Amino acid sequence: MAKMSPPPGTADIFPDEIPLWYRLENSAKQVFSRYGYGELRTPIFEYTEVFQRGLGDDTEVVQKEMYTFVDRGGRSLTLRPEGTAGVMRALLNTDVMNGNEKRVFYIGPMFRGEKPAAGRRRQFHQIGVENAGKMAPELDAENIIMLMHYLEEVGITGAKLLLNTRGGFADRQPAEAALRNHFAPHIEQMCDDCKIRLEKNVWRILDCKVDCCQAIINDAPDATDSFSQESKDYFKRVCELLTAMNIDFKVDSRLVRGLDYYVHTVFEVVHPGLGAQNAIAGGGRYELFLPNTKKPVIGVGFAAGLERLMMVQEALQVPIPKPEVHTVFLVSQGSAALEFNLRQANLLRRAGVVVALEVEAKSIKAQMRAANRVKASTVIICGETELEQGLLVVKDMASSEQSELPVDKLLEYCLELGA
Ligand code: HAM
Repeated sequence: MAKMSPPPGTADIFPDEIPLWYRLENSAKQVFSRYGYGELRTPIFEYTEVFQRGLGDDTEVVQKEMYTFVDRGGRSLTLRPEGTAGVMRALLNTDVMNGNEKRVFYIGPMFRGEKPAAGRRRQFHQIGVENAGKMAPELDAENIIMLMHYLEEVGITGAKLLLNTRGGFADRQPAEAALRNHFAPHIEQMCDDCKIRLEKNVWRILDCKVDCCQAIINDAPDATDSFSQESKDYFKRVCELLTAMNIDFKVDSRLVRGLDYYVHTVFEVVHPGLGAQNAIAGGGRYELFLPNTKKPVIGVGFAAGLERLMMVQEALQVPIPKPEVHTVFLVSQGSAALEFNLRQANLLRRAGVVVALEVEAKSIKAQMRAANRVKASTVIICGETELEQGLLVVKDMASSEQSELPVDKLLEYCLELGA
């Protein structure tokens, strides 16, 4: 039969890969809960305007990458390209706007119509956290510390933390003017995207990776120089706190991040073990506007890409967790034995035992092969004679030793296997 792949930039995740996902997800739940974060699950799609307003109309994500559709009710909806806007939309229904802190994390798929490449998917998965409602450099530092703690917990070493400040909204205009004055005389030598960015969002030029733009970007003035003293002090405090906690970081004045809601602290964690898509996590402080609200929701947070974390774990050969599972395979000879085994399987599974059995009438040999396929540690054989005598045959698959087991001891025996 012809094979059928999932759409470009998406992937099926099979059961043998799932332990890698569980490891990242379970560690996130453990680590984040120690900092007081609870899980929030928001819809996979939102009203399109949540992202347009939340992320900024001029961002690449909103302009080029969103999966937007009109539903049967004529609503414009979008598959979430990131988690922060939807989470803030949900938190608006709480007392977060009164300055009460809310700490939430989320795990799940995000969708961006980017060109698929190694480490770049159209459906990818993020683990993210948001600390909403309050603003303080201490909270920004704690957020970053939690990210580094998490990365340590999942065995990721050698990651680099890049840090920058976008200043407050009031700092934007003078900084943008300085950047425009620098780029405008050179714009003809720059790429087509940068020509548009000069008009629409000059910060994004700093993020450009195209060769012909690099020398001009390298000579750009440091936008932070024009920031208010208050904004500079805010950033200084974040840096001091991280230094005091022994967190290594590099201030990178070109780090602007791709979403417009950021203010003050922005950060990204990159790993040299990855190719061009080397960002394993990113985040920062934000003031996010939502439709029909006059005031932004404030907060600080980050998201890490699960696929990229796994790529780094693989490169670092972080051991794969293999929980010890004892599978008991019930072999049946004849229909009465099969019925008996189906009843026993039901009882054993309810008691917590992993049970496999063959429901089609097959030879003992074929059933033993099936037991090997599921890597059963124990096989228990039942036929007419065994039923008459009330004695089952037990085979230990590792030693090939056989013994007899009274029917009424089956549950006890199986429970001891897993103990
Ligand atoms: P972001 O930098 O756009 O930030 O994404 C965070 C992480 O998601 C990236 O560092 C990367 O690991 C992963 N990622 C992004 N796009 C893709 C893709 N196409 N394929 C695979 N992985 C990808 C945000 O999404 C913000 N919401 C983070 C945040 C939370 N800021 C404040 N709070």
